[in-house]
Amino acid sequence: MSVTVRFSVNGTERSVTTAGDRRLLDVLREDLQLTGTKYGCGEGQCGACLVHVDGEPTRSCLVSVADADGRSITTIEGLARGDTLHAVQAAFIDEGALQCGYCTSGMVLAAVALLRKTPDPTDAQIVSGMDGHLCRCNGYVKIVSAVRRAAETMRAARHG
Ligand code: FES
Ligand code: FES
Repeated sequence: MSVTVRFSVNGTERSVTTAGDRRLLDVLREDLQLTGTKYGCGEGQCGACLVHVDGEPTRSCLVSVADADGRSITTIEGLARGDTLHAVQAAFIDEGALQCGYCTSGMVLAAVALLRKTPDPTDAQIVSGMDGHLCRCNGYVKIVSAVRRAAETMRAARHG
């Protein structure tokens, strides 16, 4: 059944009329052309499709667009401020924590959510916070380094 869904996406009010049972992931990619959110497994197992819904990290392959009605969604396209990358994005680049990049938008958004709740994480907390995010390029060590670096940058900015 067709529904009209209204939600905020990266700070802009959007409305989409479509079948209510379509995945939020597909609507973001196909209807709103926000292709930074990736389709990996489609079953909640890989983390490639992670976005924030009302600030909570959410696998968009598991959410129907109807369930996103009235919510506030942030995708990877909404993280930078103009030309200034988010500290987590910058840290991934500086640490060389991406190869093909397919897992990266989900990893970065997971790290942003982790650092919001745990600003000074141990490596074990980083590993556990990124649990369930698969990198087929096996870049995990550098990903942990990037999250650690982002945490340091963000703490320094707060205290600077
Ligand atoms: S595509 Fe959603 S978790 Fe893999
Ligand atoms: S960088 Fe290729 S899947 Fe993670």
